[in-house]
Amino acid sequence: MTQPTERHEFQAEVKQLLDLMVHSLYSDKDIFLRELVSNASDALDKLRFEQLTQTELSTSDLHIRLATDATNRTLTISDNGIGMTREEVIKNIGTIARSGTREFLTAVRDAKKPDAPPELIGQFGVGFYSAFMVADKITLVSRRAGTDTATHWESTGDGAYTLGEATRDHAGTTITLHLKPVDTEAGLRDYTAEHVLKEIVKRYSDFVTYPIRMQRWRDGDKPSDHKILEDETLNSMKAIWDRPKAEVTEQEYKDFYRHLSHDWTDPLRTIPITMEGTLEAYALLYIPSKAPFDLYSAEMKRGVQLYVKRVFVMDECKELMPTHLRFIKGVVDAHDLSLNVSREILQKDRQIQVIRKQLVKKVFSTLDEMKRDKPEDYLQFWAAFGPALKEGLLAYDAQDKDKRLELLLTASTHHASDLASLDDYVGRMKEGQDAIYFLTGSSKDAIAKSPLLEAFAAKGYEVLLFADPIDELWLERAPRFKDKPLKSIGRGEVTLGSEDDRKKAAEALDEKQKQYSDLLTYFRVHLQNEIKEVRLSSRLTSSPVCLVADEHDLTPRMQKMLEQLGQAPPKVKPILELNPTHSLIPKLQALFAENKADPRLGLYAELLLGQAHLADSGQLPDPAAFSRALADVMLHGV
Ligand SMILES: Nc1ncnc2c1ncn2[C@@H]1O[C@H](COP(=O)(O)OP(=O)(O)OP(=O)(O)O)[C@@H](O)[C@H]1O
Ligand SMILES: [Mg+2]
Repeated sequence: MTQPTERHEFQAEVKQLLDLMVHSLYSDKDIFLRELVSNASDALDKLRFEQLTQTELSTSDLHIRLATDATNRTLTISDNGIGMTREEVIKNIGTIARSGTREFLTAVRDAKKPDAPPELIGQFGVGFYSAFMVADKITLVSRRAGTDTATHWESTGDGAYTLGEATRDHAGTTITLHLKPVDTEAGLRDYTAEHVLKEIVKRYSDFVTYPIRMQRWRDGDKPSDHKILEDETLNSMKAIWDRPKAEVTEQEYKDFYRHLSHDWTDPLRTIPITMEGTLEAYALLYIPSKAPFDLYSAEMKRGVQLYVKRVFVMDECKELMPTHLRFIKGVVDAHDLSLNVSREILQKDRQIQVIRKQLVKKVFSTLDEMKRDKPEDYLQFWAAFGPALKEGLLAYDAQDKDKRLELLLTASTHHASDLASLDDYVGRMKEGQDAIYFLTGSSKDAIAKSPLLEAFAAKGYEVLLFADPIDELWLERAPRFKDKPLKSIGRGEVTLGSEDDRKKAAEALDEKQKQYSDLLTYFRVHLQNEIKEVRLSSRLTSSPVCLVADEHDLTPRMQKMLEQLGQAPPKVKPILELNPTHSLIPKLQALFAENKADPRLGLYAELLLGQAHLADSGQLPDPAAFSRALADVMLHGV
């Protein structure tokens, strides 16, 4: 018995949603196809699942089909999936079952604006109704698997729909869109044009598990003639992130990396990740083997791609990867997200936070392993991405500290060309040494020549050398590694050796300090505009002078960096240290004792300060003044 065609009113909320659709919530109208393909793919999944227990259901040749009719301006999307009964059509297409959508609509209502605030859009899936952005009439014919009648549904999106009976050869759903006229300004493209459909499928649905076939009718023929010219599969279906690792070849992983990154060198590591349990997600991450040219530019394409059940959602999903891991390429497929999730929502989404945490953990454990088992690979990684990774040291919680610092490599006085890790360093620490000593500067070679290293070299203490600009910043935070403080040797006083040694050295220095006290005061007064203090040094063995920062002051380099960033920190003056063992000092003392007003003393003070600046950074704050002082000295003879 055939049922008569019935007219049904949409639920009030659906009406609202349709209204939003028609008045175009999205500027990107193309997404309707993504939604319909995703629904078809879901329907095919459901059929496959049901077939496990109802073996009489046929699951052969599961596919999605697109067909166009340019003359009548229709686009048809069909699938041979689970289909719907009449009741299911009413429930699924006529009402809004999802609570998220209801909340969305309430929010829109509360906002009392005609247009939906964009930050709210991502909270709900527009789904099926999005087709009304491009169509002014939609018909749907669906036959539930395991039944033999089909249901015909039709609506112009104006508040009501009709339901009737129909026939359909197999189970599945056919949706026909009667397309609105092309309107490029409004973002309505010609959805009967093959190249348009191809492009949209490639962009959003390339990895959908089922073939999306394009069926073309001979020119002028009606779809009912069923004269197929060609049948082409538009999507590659080659998603590999949710396949078991053992089933994917190395080559497939590499090819996919190329597809993602457009980088023709092989990745250094491939990291497949499966998350199951409270949430279902798959990820495939890659560590590239070389840094992109724009790693430190704000414009760098960063972050991973986000998919929901193999349907593309967005590129450069920054919310899934912290900035210091921006070089990681890959895909994350989060099964429980809505396709329309927006960036605003992503930032707050708990699921995303959980996934991100897992990804970061996995990347770090991969790096850990690489460092331990494949040091050559790790060196290559470090050379490419070390400075970026160090950005992560600027903001990390205490628990992670040691783990992150363990990954660090840096130049060291221990070996001219080998890099050292903090663990290496700690293993080589001297008896009684209670700090990890380091020095920062503008290049490794420059720091390696710093006079500040002299006492350390003389006593056989290793010093780590840091030359990346970022080093100044994270070292500024006085980090500790395995309970040992990292201590700058360019700061404050240094004392080396055993307790006894230190005491003796301090006493000896005190003694000399007294002996030269007047000379030091003279220098300080003469140079008071440029320096904070003049004192005798315990860190020099051969150089006459050096510059150091006071215990809690910014280092000169840090100051320069802040200035370059446009922040003018209060000017801190460095401390000038003189080497008491250098024969120059007694000579100056003699000159001073003879005639405190000798004009040469002032010139010498300036030259010594200039020398200290040169040793510190290779640069003079006032080269002209230095040059004048030098010429004066030459002129008068020593
Ligand atoms: N091709 C189809 N075959 C079978 N059922 C379908 C098909 N398309 C839609 N449906 C049914 O209609 C419902 C509504 O679809 P819609 O796209 O609006 O929401 P959704 O797919 O459930 O969620 P979302 O698209 O936001 O992820 C689906 O849940 C499904 O039950
Ligand atoms: Mg959907």
